[in-house]
Amino acid sequence: MADYVLEKFIDKKDIKSKIKDIAEKISFDYKNSERLLFVGVLKGAWIFLADVVRAIELPLEISFIAVSSYRNKTETNGVVRLLWDIDVPLAGRDVFLVEDIIDTGLTLKHLKELFTIRKPKSINLCCLLDKPSRRLVDIEANYKGFTIPDHFVVGYGLDYAGRYRNLQDIYKIVFK
Ligand code: IMP
Repeated sequence: MADYVLEKFIDKKDIKSKIKDIAEKISFDYKNSERLLFVGVLKGAWIFLADVVRAIELPLEISFIAVSSYRNKTETNGVVRLLWDIDVPLAGRDVFLVEDIIDTGLTLKHLKELFTIRKPKSINLCCLLDKPSRRLVDIEANYKGFTIPDHFVVGYGLDYAGRYRNLQDIYKIVFK
């Protein structure tokens, strides 16, 4: 039997409305950009990315990068492994790195540094959730959904030991 329960934390209606706000801001700020590229960080960001880009009515491209930092645990081991790189050049492009959640910040810091070397025109960090109390490095999202306390959350792309990514709402895990 599981030693935890799931408690509803963010309703799908609130997620939807937050995504609309983020998409409107990006659409306004980048209305003149012809070279928008959205890079989703797999696996957690795929649902968020899919909803955000469908709410943006500008020409854009999509790519994915895969990293691994959690191994069936709620704690990071601090090592960000690149499992799959993007398949497009970044030079001269307005790039959005899209993450499900910023926790310690190690993943996005590592990816931002990796992308900066490739000389994009701009890099923005976009995340649905932010846990600032857990930050180990100095990194902030330019576009973000919800700031949350130190809970481990699942659903809407986020997993615990590989499960719950398909849930439409976001839940917090409460250990018994
Ligand atoms: P960071 O490098 O510590 O900022 O962690 C980023 C990654 O850790 C996210 O993309 C998630 O995959 C994972 N992560 C951090 N917090 C949570 C959580 O509360 N639920 C599920 N995954 C999380």
